[in-house]
Amino acid sequence: MNLTKIKKVRGELRVPSDKSISHRAVILGALSRGKTYVKEWLVSADTLATLRAFRMLGVKIRRHGKEFIIHGSDFILKEPKDVINAQNSGTTARLLFGVLSTQPFYSVVTGDKSLRNRPMLRVVEPLKSMGAHLDGREGGDKLPISVRGSNLKGISFFNKKASAQVKSSLLLAGLRAQGITEIMEPYVSRDHTERMLTTFGVKLECMQTKHGHLVKLEGGQSLVGCEVYCPADPSSAAFFAALATLAEDGEVLLKDVLINPTRDGFYRKLKEMGASIEYTNVRVVSGEPVGDILVKSSKTLKAIQIDAEDIPSMIDEIPILAVVMAFADGVSYVRGAKELRVKESDRIKAIVENLRAMGAKVEEYEDGFAIEGTRLLKGAFIKTYDDHRIAMAFSIAGLLAQGETKLDNPNCVKVSYPEFFEDLKKLIS
Ligand code: S3P
Repeated sequence: MNLTKIKKVRGELRVPSDKSISHRAVILGALSRGKTYVKEWLVSADTLATLRAFRMLGVKIRRHGKEFIIHGSDFILKEPKDVINAQNSGTTARLLFGVLSTQPFYSVVTGDKSLRNRPMLRVVEPLKSMGAHLDGREGGDKLPISVRGSNLKGISFFNKKASAQVKSSLLLAGLRAQGITEIMEPYVSRDHTERMLTTFGVKLECMQTKHGHLVKLEGGQSLVGCEVYCPADPSSAAFFAALATLAEDGEVLLKDVLINPTRDGFYRKLKEMGASIEYTNVRVVSGEPVGDILVKSSKTLKAIQIDAEDIPSMIDEIPILAVVMAFADGVSYVRGAKELRVKESDRIKAIVENLRAMGAKVEEYEDGFAIEGTRLLKGAFIKTYDDHRIAMAFSIAGLLAQGETKLDNPNCVKVSYPEFFEDLKKLIS
């Protein structure tokens, strides 16, 4: 797609469903008793990696039109006949380790080049302390990693870096552990696993303490198959919210979006910058808050500062937030975001390099960056590092810049949003 400056963005859009919720719907459905009916499941490269993994573990999953039916295994999975490939998906690999740790058989998980470089010790270590046997390259930190599960015991774990993947992996293992599993985080990370476990009939406690956010559950509980609805992904909708805000003539209604407070930090910060963001038609579906988001263009935006405690609720939106910051008045900061260096790409490097190529003034820190706003970006050749969120964020930047922008690999959007460019065309034509 030829990316050049546009003026008008108008229309209504229901972006594809939430990736985190879609992964969890398959995982919890696969572990439960009876059937689970999943509505509006996200079909993307990442979520298909999870679906294929559970098929390899003997779980029957059928598609009926737009609905997926999962025949639950009640935690009785089969030894896979081959290595499981989580492809580009950190959520698939890390949550799988929690599940595989409960199983007596041998399995190996690998991934693509990016995932094989991402740290796994954050789940491998606590799972080993629960009693599972895991090993892999670089002392168990890198894929391929082998697992042989065992009789697990519950642990009390302080997760220094808030991470929903770590929390979820340990909760899944905790379901089959003896005693109580408790996980504390300095700031609450996305809570879809906790909410969905409740929908599947599991009892758990979540509370804010003076040391952080605590989740605990007792082992030995069963999950009961149910119906799960997957709402539109706020991380995918964020690209259109940014475009509507920054375009000269923008008005977009984003339908059916997940507005869970552990996920909507981007929209709250955008509003703080002066954007016109309105939640309407707010309701609760399958235990998750959902609404329509009306976004209109804003003449001016002011710079903001993002700190460590803000990061978990907008971790995946930082690339597109950086693009918005490049158009705000003043210097914006993102700090306490070192985790971005170990996402699908080193996102701090990718943001800094690409914004600089577009003519922005950016300073790089180990844990973030500073961006001096300007209303004038110029088109550039974007290095995506095969990272879907970098590709989509800089496509939006290209539609707001003077001159032409090209991406080295537009195809990588398939990881979370295969129809991204088609949807974009619908709103700007
Ligand atoms: C996810 C959690 C986040 C997020 C990722 C999806 C999840 O990672 O960046 O895209 O579905 O649990 P961390 O938990 O490592 O922060």
